[in-house]
Amino acid sequence: MSAQTIRPSSGLANVKYEIRGRLFRRAQEMERQGYEIISLNIGNPGAFGFRTPETMRLAIIENLRASEGYCHQKGIFPAREAVVMLQQSRGVRDISVEEVFIGNGVSELIDLTLRGLLNTDDEVLVPSPDYPLWTAAVNLNRGRAVHYPCRPENNFVPDVKDIQALITSRTRAIVVINPNNPTGAVYPRPTLEAIAKLAEKHHLVVYSDEIYDQILYDDVAFTPMATLVHNSLCVTLSGLSKVYRACGYRVGWAVFTGDVKHARDYISAMELLSSLRLCANVPGQWAVQTALGGYQSIKELLRSGGRLFESRQAIHDNIRKSKYLDVNLSRGAIYDFIEIRSDILPEIDDQQFALDLLEHKHVLIAPGSSFNVPYRNRFRITHLPRAEVLHEVFTRMEELLDSYSSGRRPVSRPAPSLKAI
Ligand SMILES: Cc1ncc(COP(=O)(O)O)c(C=O)c1O
Repeated sequence: MSAQTIRPSSGLANVKYEIRGRLFRRAQEMERQGYEIISLNIGNPGAFGFRTPETMRLAIIENLRASEGYCHQKGIFPAREAVVMLQQSRGVRDISVEEVFIGNGVSELIDLTLRGLLNTDDEVLVPSPDYPLWTAAVNLNRGRAVHYPCRPENNFVPDVKDIQALITSRTRAIVVINPNNPTGAVYPRPTLEAIAKLAEKHHLVVYSDEIYDQILYDDVAFTPMATLVHNSLCVTLSGLSKVYRACGYRVGWAVFTGDVKHARDYISAMELLSSLRLCANVPGQWAVQTALGGYQSIKELLRSGGRLFESRQAIHDNIRKSKYLDVNLSRGAIYDFIEIRSDILPEIDDQQFALDLLEHKHVLIAPGSSFNVPYRNRFRITHLPRAEVLHEVFTRMEELLDSYSSGRRPVSRPAPSLKAI
């Protein structure tokens, strides 16, 4: 019998996640060869030495014995109740534990919530740039991601007129990521109000990804979308990964508010999908109540002298000094979406830049085109490394950009010696 190639599902044809794609695999290969790579591509606090608050770890240890069985498909009661109380304290009305689902990270809930909603060719309005899982998950679940622009000239805040212009009879939902990954934008309340009104007028579900909701700078105000959407369904997504530096616990939540009365079948479908995967990881759920109540240690990291504050400052200082770089300063989240100035380097290609930076300077970044944008002169880095590391990164970037500008070949950093390996 002749061998036959096993092909993956055609449903994956337009599904991509380049943050862990080709460049990432090359970086791993180089690390195996003994190169020391500075990886700035993923927002994984644990990888940069951040610790989950101790009380959260203790809450898990205390409850390990109670974590051995499956739990309710929607999650354990204390975790869901803590999410309800958090939302209530922020002014969200008419919310109960029945409408809270705990998942294995926001990632799983993005997939489940879209799977529960979409029919073939339904359209979902997704920001450009986006956190690319949103585009991927819409496409994976038979829908069509239609991108609305968040333009650099408007500090990456969407213009509701652009969104309105894209609504068709097939549009089912709109995705808002606030504070934003990859741009660090925090949307002003009037913009969110206008999006809420638009959603209500066209009966769209609003998915509000608020996983960075407490990572804010410069006294900028964060407005929870659920306080604004009343006559349509709002699904707020958040979790432990970023604010609580617990990516590995894989805990997130989705909260259904607004017009839940007309969404009963959809919420039942969510319950069915949640039951099919039995339940979310149980030990991590025990950390939720401890995390959400009381003292919030993230605040220390965000004020002057705090690690995230100082790293973001280092990024902004280095960009100010750079001959080639510019940025719309982040106001929240843990990223900056940096521009390589087209007036100075008009031919720049973000993929080639990222590849050269990896091969010659041993720094891994995420090229802007990984975030579903039409332009090729941006890249994303995370605020998570220490300021000293970021200074070094910008020195290496400037060296590479100097060589581009003068038409010289980039000077490569030394390869690891056999001894070092
Ligand atoms: C905007 C956004 N949403 C969701 C996620 C996924 O989070 P989780 O670890 O909860 O799956 C991320 C992770 O980087 C993110 O940036």
